[in-house]
Amino acid sequence: MKSDAFVTSGLDMDRLPVHVAIIMDGNGRWAKKRLKNRVTGHEKGSRTVRTIVTACRELGIQYLTLYAFSTENWARPKSEVSALMRLLKKFLVSEQQDLMEKGICLQVLGQMEKLPEDVRKQALETIDATRNNHDMTLNLALSYGSRQEITDAVQAVAQKVAAGELAAEDICEKTVADHLYTSGMPDPDLLIRTSGEFRLSNFLLWQSAYAEIFVTHTLWPDFTREEFTEILTNYQKRDRRFGRVECNMPSDGSPQ
Ligand code: IPE
Ligand code: IPE
Ligand code: MG
Repeated sequence: MKSDAFVTSGLDMDRLPVHVAIIMDGNGRWAKKRLKNRVTGHEKGSRTVRTIVTACRELGIQYLTLYAFSTENWARPKSEVSALMRLLKKFLVSEQQDLMEKGICLQVLGQMEKLPEDVRKQALETIDATRNNHDMTLNLALSYGSRQEITDAVQAVAQKVAAGELAAEDICEKTVADHLYTSGMPDPDLLIRTSGEFRLSNFLLWQSAYAEIFVTHTLWPDFTREEFTEILTNYQKRDRRFGRVECNMPSDGSPQ
C-alpha cells in the first residue's frame, strides 16, 4: 500500500520511525488569523488528522499517537469543550469505515471515563470494531495527561506491592512502562509539535525520553503530508546516540 509519491520523495523506507507522536497545536490561532471562531479551526484541524493518518498508513508507520485533548483542556470554555467533543464523536463515526479498510486499530490513551457518555460509547465501539486490525495503531490521546498517567501507574504498582504480588525491589523501568497507557507499545521515535511552541504540555513525558523532537511553526490546520515527509527526511539525518558514542569513535578521541 506504499504510494509512489512517498517512495520517490527521498525517504529511506527502511529507516522510518516506528512510532510518531504529534502535538496537534494551533487550531485556535489558525481561526483567529481568519477572523473565525476557534471551533472552525478545530474543524479544519480534524481534516489534517485524516491526511496525516493516511500518510502514515501509506508509509507503513506502525504507531501514530495524536494529542487531541489534554487533562488541562477541560478548563477551556464549556462551549469549546463541547464543540471538541462533538467533533471527536463525528470523527470516530465518519472514520470507522476508513480505519477498517486501511487495517488501522484505534486506541485511546487517557481518562476515557471523563469523556461524555455518548463520546465514550462511540470510542469504545470504534476500538472494539478495529481491534483485530494490525497494519497500524492509531492512538488518540484524549483527556490525556502524562503526570496523571504516571500517577495512575504508581498507584497500580503500589497496590500490587501492598497485595504481595510484587516485591518493591523488583520494580524496574519495565514495571513502570508496563503500567502506562502505552503498555506494550514502543516509545515514540519522533515527536512533532505544530504551531511553534517549544514545550511538551504534559504529553508522553516518560515515553519521549529519547524521541527526536521537531517543532514547526505551521499551524495544525495548515500542516500537510509534504511537510510531514520533509520532517521524516530530516529525522533520518539525525544521529540518535541514546547517550552512547559513535561506534567507530575510540574513547580517547583519536582516529581509528
Ligand atoms: C490544538 O489547538 C487543539 C487542542 C488543544 C484541542 P489549540 O486549540 O490549542 O489552538 P491554539 O494553540 O489556541 O492556537
Ligand atoms: C496541547 O496543546 C494539547 C493538545 C494539542 C491537545 P495546548 O494548546 O493545550 O497546550 P499549551 O496550553 O499551549 O501548553
Ligand atoms: Mg494550543
